Amino acid sequence: METAIENGVTQMPRIGDQAPDFEALTTTGKIKFSEFAQGKWIVMFSHPADFTPVCTTEMSGFATRKGEFDALNTELIGLSIDSIHAHLGWVDNVRKNTGVYFNFPIIADLDMKVSKLYGMLQPNESETAAVRAVFFIDPEKKVRLIMYYPLNVGRNMDEILRALEALQTSDQYKVAMPLDWKKGDKVIVPPPKTLEEMEARLEDDSIEKIDFYLAKKDLA
Ligand code: BEZ
Repeated sequence: METAIENGVTQMPRIGDQAPDFEALTTTGKIKFSEFAQGKWIVMFSHPADFTPVCTTEMSGFATRKGEFDALNTELIGLSIDSIHAHLGWVDNVRKNTGVYFNFPIIADLDMKVSKLYGMLQPNESETAAVRAVFFIDPEKKVRLIMYYPLNVGRNMDEILRALEALQTSDQYKVAMPLDWKKGDKVIVPPPKTLEEMEARLEDDSIEKIDFYLAKKDLA
């Protein structure tokens, strides 16, 4: 798969790019990313290090809410620059301490190959640990949304799920999502592209209109 190269330097994937392919060892076995979770959305996230407090809360969040990702036809996959042995030890340790089991694959990216490919290694933050990245990848393996958090701030699971559902709903209904959109809220009707469409929009009383370019509707 194509990866953008500028001035001989591999560029991190951007929104709209094909997700770069790779092979990696994970806690559930070896994977080739282009063959992973076919037909599904993927949320791929990195964490700085195993056996660290913020990461433990985040990974536990993904694990306890995995059912909500399943319901959105989405597979989870984690990553850090730790060994498989460290991953297994951490999974076991958290299960013993809290009863939470990290029930999704976690990539052991010891050679930093995947972290570099996805721009998860941001040297001015840390040269040895991945930042907290989240890649939302659609069933065509296209990157659709990217979040980056620094080492010292944990992510928000409600926002990750909200953004995933917003992407999927936008695709399904060909609409856009306003500020703070959540399931059940009105959605943005795409603005008209011609004068004729604008005139029709101004006449349309079936939608909530602020003006011709800002209109909302309920989804059926
Ligand atoms: C943490 O997960 O607590 C953490 C990891 C790396 C640096 C700082 C905090």
